Amino acid sequence: MYRTHTCGELRLTDAGKTVTLAGWVQRTRDLGGLTFVDLRDRYGITQLSFNVERDKALCDQANTLGREYVILATGTVKERESKNLQIPTGEIELIVTGLKVLNAAKTPPFTMEEETDGGDDLRMRYRYLDLRRANIRKNFELRHRMAIETRNYLSAHHFLEVETPVLIKSTPEGARDFVVPSRMNQGEFYALPQSPQTFKQLLMVAGFDRYFQVVKCFRDEDLRADRQPEFTQIDCEMAFVEQEDILRMFEGLAKHLFKAVLDKEFSSPFPRMTFDEAMRDYGCDKPDLRFGMRFNELNDLLQGKGFKVFDEAELVVGINAEGCAGWSRKQTDSLIDFVKRPQIGATGIVFLKWTTEGLKSTVDKFFTPEQLKAWAVRCGMKEGDLLCIMAGKADRTRKQLNELRLHLGDLCDLRDPWAFSPLWVVDFPLLEQDEESGRWHAMHHPFTAPKPEDAHKLESDPGGVKANAYDLVINGTEIGGGSIRIHDRAMQEAMFRVLGFTDEEARYKFGFLLDAFEYGAPPHGGAAFGFDRWVSLFGGRSDIREFIAFPKNNAGRDTMIDAPSRLDAAQLAELGIASVG
Ligand code: AMO
Repeated sequence: MYRTHTCGELRLTDAGKTVTLAGWVQRTRDLGGLTFVDLRDRYGITQLSFNVERDKALCDQANTLGREYVILATGTVKERESKNLQIPTGEIELIVTGLKVLNAAKTPPFTMEEETDGGDDLRMRYRYLDLRRANIRKNFELRHRMAIETRNYLSAHHFLEVETPVLIKSTPEGARDFVVPSRMNQGEFYALPQSPQTFKQLLMVAGFDRYFQVVKCFRDEDLRADRQPEFTQIDCEMAFVEQEDILRMFEGLAKHLFKAVLDKEFSSPFPRMTFDEAMRDYGCDKPDLRFGMRFNELNDLLQGKGFKVFDEAELVVGINAEGCAGWSRKQTDSLIDFVKRPQIGATGIVFLKWTTEGLKSTVDKFFTPEQLKAWAVRCGMKEGDLLCIMAGKADRTRKQLNELRLHLGDLCDLRDPWAFSPLWVVDFPLLEQDEESGRWHAMHHPFTAPKPEDAHKLESDPGGVKANAYDLVINGTEIGGGSIRIHDRAMQEAMFRVLGFTDEEARYKFGFLLDAFEYGAPPHGGAAFGFDRWVSLFGGRSDIREFIAFPKNNAGRDTMIDAPSRLDAAQLAELGIASVG
């Protein structure tokens, strides 16, 4: 046996045993005659003890060990004189009788502690070292537990895990495809799946009834903290269901994960909100409900009193920041600077403060005290509160106020990562129109069915059609989404027409699906959840890269393996691609 125990295993009850441990040198302390080595592996840290009087050669050898050397140590477990009760092995140490260096190590480029001195770039370049850090490793233990619990739940509910291909034909999900040239079919390309959407629908046609897959998806889109070019979905589909069946099934999955992984119970059903309500009350389709600050529309109260900014606006809307009336001028100015940043692009904020001296606004000269009082009542203000009002074009102003709301939530510490506020957003519009081109795009994807009562409007009033499409939002993050699908050829063809496909294009791209709908396609629907996002949410962090073993940086590069990289001329020629540059 290579080793008898791991570095996290030995306790006081093991005292007297002869054991062999293997691992990495976390640190050595030479106290002159006495040397201690902290030996680390995935399971923990055990102290190795060397004494000149006991064995000088061994002690000298211990003093030559560098950080991250890989060693094998044999010895006797002994109760420690000075115990470290912070760690589970802290009551014992190993009196070493044999030591073997399995591999030396260069000095690592950053410290392998929870708080490392390594910057982002360095950590990613040496990700295999970064992953040795206990706090990062814990993220993968969490990921593993969530994957197992997901499989347990879905398997218990008769979902069949089926793998779908990775070399496929483009599936539009709103992003660009990554493509792979075909050597055997020169000039032709596979696309990597943005999701297994069409395949899971074909599995329903095949009669598999309930499908799932924990699956890599690929999207060539601009990257952010919660987006990676390759990411993992918990992808699911069910036949013979209505929206309600799907929401219940996956609310069950969410509750199971909350309970099994975080020991959190949700006894009541998750709240639901329509897309229209979410936009009206929070200015976004994924509201963070850990805190209030609902939008209050104020057009009727604030317009027509001579203040141009309000009078000319399509929408005047405010949020009540509770307890913020005492904020200094500097603090409220910084809010204005925040919304004026180009990413947000607002012109300003009007404030109404309710202090011990009463109500005071930044536009007092246009309004009477009674009018200010009416604003305060509308917005549910009490003494000590600060009302922030924005005005302008409706859609833009809602978006801008949403940004301000989230910023205020952060400033007021209302977004505790360990408080969870799940929400279903339902009744999404089927289509959205591109302002510039006037073209219609599927809001979810082109396979989403219109609500039956709206189906007749699909070609005459596309903007007025709602879908049985839903998102699971937790703490303002879109964790997943799905819809009831079209399962009828004529309807799918109509949808493609609305999206601007010619019949020929539709056949070329999706003929296989249209054909399948003619061979007994059952009504079906499903959802997919962003697994990396979900794990990071449960890990209390917003950057999903911390939960992906080998992620890409914001430029889409893996700096460790240095990808993407050039191909040599011969390889390109074989693929029938002319050399670039
Ligand atoms: P959708 O495109 O909404 O739906 O994706 C489902 C979920 O996947 C996550 N996600 C991402 N996570 C990390 N990086 C990305 N680049 C990224 N893009 C998406 C999100 C999102 O909610 N086929 C449909 C699902 C269906 O209709 O069943 C689909 O893919 O958490």
